[in-house]
Amino acid sequence: MKVNKLYQGDCLPFLESLPDESVDALITDPPYASGGLHIGARQNNTTSKYVQSNSQRGFYDFAGDHRDQRSHLRWSILWLSECWRILKPGAPICLFSDWRQLPTTTDALQAAGFSWRGIAVWDKTEGTRPVMGRFRAQCEYIVWGSKGNMPLDRGVGVLPGVIRQVVKSADKHHITGKPTELMRQINRICVPSGIILDPFAGSGSTLVAAAMDGYGWIGCELSEHYHQVATNRLNGVGE
Ligand SMILES: C[S@@+](CC[C@H](N)C(=O)[O-])C[C@H]1O[C@@H](n2cnc3c(N)ncnc32)[C@H](O)[C@@H]1O
Repeated sequence: MKVNKLYQGDCLPFLESLPDESVDALITDPPYASGGLHIGARQNNTTSKYVQSNSQRGFYDFAGDHRDQRSHLRWSILWLSECWRILKPGAPICLFSDWRQLPTTTDALQAAGFSWRGIAVWDKTEGTRPVMGRFRAQCEYIVWGSKGNMPLDRGVGVLPGVIRQVVKSADKHHITGKPTELMRQINRICVPSGIILDPFAGSGSTLVAAAMDGYGWIGCELSEHYHQVATNRLNGVGE
């Protein structure tokens, strides 16, 4: 397996090509398929589903966000089952989700064979769009678990259950891009110097953060545009 490499294409054949028990952590932000309650609305492009503020404008659309609830669950179990094979025993898994897809995400994680261990919170701060008379939609979630037993003596310290991290426009490279600093904190669940897998790399935030902190990394991205964005960012690490 070639480490520190970003592939372009569908994640399923990419994952099928990776050897058994070769990766130390799965940390990924898959398409949520949560924008739009009905089939017609879900087929809309991602910019019309997710753009709510100026900081989100001007980005390319991405694919894979159109499935209805049942097919999203089945597809999630497909790629997560491949990840289960690829991860080493005891390896952690972290999946981003929003509130709508939390139940589906925890079901998929367990159906693929992983042990569900909890939910960490990404607090996006008060910079998110306010709506009168409602709770601010200020958080996304990191559903996490492991491939079987997860020993306590892995050389990893105590990690925060809530990570407060604002989205800065200079650090946003994808319509649903995650802050690099957030990913650096989440990646710390991996054993030091271990290999981190992200099959939905987007603009490469997980992998850039991994490269900055001395982890090995391997990933995949379907969109040619975002694959190029991520490649440019990865080439710039350490400059
Ligand atoms: C939520 S975004 C990831 C954003 C990333 N965390 C970042 O910070 O830039 C999900 C990504 O998965 C990609 N994707 C969708 N379906 C895919 C598939 N079948 N295989 C690989 N990538 C896919 C999309 O193109 C999109 O860029």
